[in-house]
Amino acid sequence: MNSSSLMEKIVALCKRRGFIFPGSEIYGGITGFWDYGPLGVELKNNIKKEWWKSMVYKRSDVVGIDAAIIMNPEVWAKSGHLGAFADPLVECKICHKRFRSDREEEKDKHLKEHLGKSDVWTEAKQFNLLTEVFLGVTEPKEKAYLRGEITQGVFVDFENVVSSSRIKIPFGIAQIGKAFRNEITPGNFTFRSREFEQMELEFFVKPQDQEGDKWFEYWKNERMKWYLSLGMKKESLRFRVHADKERAHYAKKAEDIEYNAPFGWSELEGIHHRGDWDLSAHKLTYKEEDGEEFTPWVIETSGGVDRSALFFLVDAYYEDDKRVVLKLHPKLAPVKVAVFPLLANKENLISLAKDVYKSLKENIDGMIMFDDRGNIGKRYYAQDEIGTPFCVTVDFQSLEDKAVTVRDRDTAKQERIKIENLYKYLLEKLS
Ligand code: GAP
Repeated sequence: MNSSSLMEKIVALCKRRGFIFPGSEIYGGITGFWDYGPLGVELKNNIKKEWWKSMVYKRSDVVGIDAAIIMNPEVWAKSGHLGAFADPLVECKICHKRFRSDREEEKDKHLKEHLGKSDVWTEAKQFNLLTEVFLGVTEPKEKAYLRGEITQGVFVDFENVVSSSRIKIPFGIAQIGKAFRNEITPGNFTFRSREFEQMELEFFVKPQDQEGDKWFEYWKNERMKWYLSLGMKKESLRFRVHADKERAHYAKKAEDIEYNAPFGWSELEGIHHRGDWDLSAHKLTYKEEDGEEFTPWVIETSGGVDRSALFFLVDAYYEDDKRVVLKLHPKLAPVKVAVFPLLANKENLISLAKDVYKSLKENIDGMIMFDDRGNIGKRYYAQDEIGTPFCVTVDFQSLEDKAVTVRDRDTAKQERIKIENLYKYLLEKLS
């Protein structure tokens, strides 16, 4: 399958099955905004749950926060974003479409629309990506910004977190939340959106080169292991070191975890050595118990929830001549188990299947589906296509032996399991 047709299939599957819809579609959509449907929200929540588990619950040196999206505009002046959070923009003199001047491929594609003319571009100028909002009831309204990265909330809350928790350096503050960027050219489905979600860790260390470098390497590897532990293929991932000129204004050092997407190797997560850029900018320090005071250095891991969701979907997509399967890790699968009565018109089968369904809903943390439409083959097909790891069928024999058939998504193998043991059996398989 070529890569553009893979991307088309993923986009179509996302719409058809309720993962991702174009934002405001009934009014013709809005560029760079996407809505997550009933399955998409499950996938995204599962990604966030696994991230939080690994970054906060499993550690004793990280705590979480949830800061406000809109902050005092002074934050963005001090952090350098008002001046430097910008992309180079050029405009086509013929049709006035705007592009990033460093995206040669997109510009070349556009030139074809003007029959290969080459002198169509204006001089590049810096275009700030922060999204402005206006607050208050009296004119002129107060200008503020939707956060361009969730990060600054952590620095703004740094002193409050240190004084209210028992953490000591080295320690981290984790956060998941929405960020907004007025991207010049949103595209590649959800990959480059104007509203998206980030999951970030800011890890504070003593201000020494060896400490900074050690933790930078540590977090790079931890983050790569996380994607692999949730089933992403090793060959789909790589690290890429940022060249000096592409590093963000705050970064001493930066490396991306990239995914081999259908549209080429693309940034999935950034690992940044932010040095003392932010805490110095906000004039914040940390005091040790012995009274020593210093400005910690910060190592940051910054992943995109939407890009993770997209690349987990792409990586899991499998098709052969019989079926389409999303081979998602069970921890990420939107629906954990689907329950079917073999036939839809037999009261006693339906009643037992509903009992099984209710008991699984009570005992398994995640979405359980009940389906009695069409034939069994069609129901399996529909569940494979959304990545449901297990289907449970209640048949006539179940009425006698109080057992059901459990079908595994990846192998299509079936096993007979006693109803009384079912949820424990599934819980073990789903973990
Ligand atoms: N605090 C650092 C920071 O924001 P970044 O490399 O600009 O760093 C981090 O962004 C991550 O946020 C990216 O690796 C990506 O996963 C996600 N991201 C950034 N811009 C995005 C966009 N326009 N659409 C979707 N995700 C985006």
